[in-house]
Amino acid sequence: MFENKCILTGVKPTGKPHIGNYFGAILPAVKMANEAARFNLFIADYHAINFMKDAEVLQREIKEIACIYLAAGLDPKKHYFYRQSDIPEINEITTILYAFTPKGFMNKSHAYKAAVDKNLEAGKPTDDGINMGLYTYPTLMAADILSMDTDIVPVGKDQIQHVEIARDIAGAVNAYYDKELLKLPDYVTAADVAVLPGIDGRKMSKSYNNVIPMFEDEKVIKKAVYSTVTDSRPMEEPKDPDEIIVYQIYKCLAPADKVEEMAAGLREGKLGYGHIKAMLLDTILEQTKDAKQVYDYYMAHYDEVRGALEDGASRARPFAQRTLARLKETLFGNL
Ligand code: ADP
Ligand code: TRP
Repeated sequence: MFENKCILTGVKPTGKPHIGNYFGAILPAVKMANEAARFNLFIADYHAINFMKDAEVLQREIKEIACIYLAAGLDPKKHYFYRQSDIPEINEITTILYAFTPKGFMNKSHAYKAAVDKNLEAGKPTDDGINMGLYTYPTLMAADILSMDTDIVPVGKDQIQHVEIARDIAGAVNAYYDKELLKLPDYVTAADVAVLPGIDGRKMSKSYNNVIPMFEDEKVIKKAVYSTVTDSRPMEEPKDPDEIIVYQIYKCLAPADKVEEMAAGLREGKLGYGHIKAMLLDTILEQTKDAKQVYDYYMAHYDEVRGALEDGASRARPFAQRTLARLKETLFGNL
């Protein structure tokens, strides 16, 4: 489906990934990588500083996210795996794109509006704590995308608008100079990717504090799994599996026959909450066991990861250099 397309996606290194991120975004991205003609995955470290200033935390999170993608099976030799900050042309392109970005787009951008809404809910002034990096976030994101001649950006629903802004900005530049200086990107949303519920039944999310962590000690994962909300009905009482959060999470991870086994056990009153939590824990540990080993290896041998990222940047950078050269040549000619 994507044989001759360039697919690009960026990940913010903000917070330890949880199993919702891993099964809902990281693994599907790695799968998609193998279907594309060119697949770019970058760590959005300049975006991250809008949200995280503590250098120690920031560096740890960059390291963790890089190792997680390698643990999930991303092949850094085959694909373009790099850090945004290793490609300075992206920032130069951003400066040019600012001149074509209507300020009104930024006012309406999803990331900015979400931050404003949060302030208003908390009774704070509209722009409290909002920096210009966050405000202009979609223009840097447009440069991330347009610099690499991207065809397709796989996104979650909240990011659709940002890709549309990138497309609009590219269209404005092309229309003004009457040539195709920038490729217009499209987005795809992964319809078949499940949204994992968290241990309280809402979407698993760092901001809800309801996550089951990835790659932690077994004890930590067990504690989260066993905190999943259940009720006080006895085991013998037949239950509708879809009402039970442990089952809802299990359904996203376990093979179909195992899922059916749990469903039948609940319907027939043969499995209690302790049993199904143990089954969920086993599945999580089983499905993350190999990846955890790779993750631990790379965390302990980060030099190899750094090398892979630097290599990725040196292979991806010429795309951004060509895009910037096209823009500068058109704007400034041979002056
Ligand atoms: P969080 O909600 O924990 O802050 P992010 O917003 O950082 O997570 O999401 C990072 C990526 O993981 C996004 O691509 C998002 O779509 C995906 N993701 C986050 N939570 C889930 C979930 N519960 N189920 C599936 N995918 C998820
Ligand atoms: N905005 C994305 C997020 O919050 C991360 C991101 C930055 C990105 N630049 C991108 C995603 C370019 C896709 C393409 O998750």
